[in-house]
Amino acid sequence: MFYQPGAQVSGLPYNPFKSCCVPRPIGWISTVSLAGVHNLAPYSQFQNVTWDPPTVLVVCNGREDGRLKDTARNIVDTGEFVWNMATFELREWVVASSRDLPPEVDEFEAVGIPWLPSRGVKPRRVRGSPVQFECRLIRQMDIPAHTPDAQACILVGEVTGIHIDDAALTPDGRIDIPRLRPLARLGYRDYTDVRHAYELAESTGRVAEAIPHLHENVRPTPR
Ligand SMILES: Cc1cc2nc3c(=O)[nH]c(=O)nc-3n(C[C@H](O)[C@H](O)[C@H](O)COP(=O)(O)O)c2cc1C
Repeated sequence: MFYQPGAQVSGLPYNPFKSCCVPRPIGWISTVSLAGVHNLAPYSQFQNVTWDPPTVLVVCNGREDGRLKDTARNIVDTGEFVWNMATFELREWVVASSRDLPPEVDEFEAVGIPWLPSRGVKPRRVRGSPVQFECRLIRQMDIPAHTPDAQACILVGEVTGIHIDDAALTPDGRIDIPRLRPLARLGYRDYTDVRHAYELAESTGRVAEAIPHLHENVRPTPR
């Protein structure tokens, strides 16, 4: 099948778009408002952008009335946020922290999530999350949309502090991903968590014809 978003609908019962770029790591983002109210919410439109300096981005959609979500409001106002690694163990906390609570409500208190202070920024860290990044806003970009709730605010942050729980490391000093089981979002309301990892050697040549059905009958794609 092929369809052109905006001009056509897919014809499928559910919009397939969010199910294509998967899994999306969860940006479990803590912030604090100018009034000092602490906030925590998950954002699966989240990614590592580059590593020197370490940089991440989080994308907050708008609200139907056009207002920014609290996370975006707080990041724009204060220039600070913290990313907390979400894990399978913490999955219920992640979903509970997605409740749309008013900006004057402390979401750590309202949801009952324990926390630790950060070192270089004001937003808290989620206690029990094995890795956290302290971040400072360096860029903001708005992506317009057909409806106000789809309007996207891209917030790019430089990672200025990295906390790693020593217990999250393997004996040879790597982050033990299959043991931590980082949580990630699929399409619809589906989630996954990383339970296995494997190495692939770097290759410089042509790929071997190891997937015979894909090498058979190769014809140009019809236009
Ligand atoms: C796993 C998960 C991922 C989410 N990802 C996003 C996202 O990428 N962008 C977004 O705008 N909302 C996302 N949401 C919804 C927000 O978490 C929700 O709107 C929340 O109330 C925002 O809180 P805030 O206003 O305190 O920032 C997600 C929700 C869940 C449960």
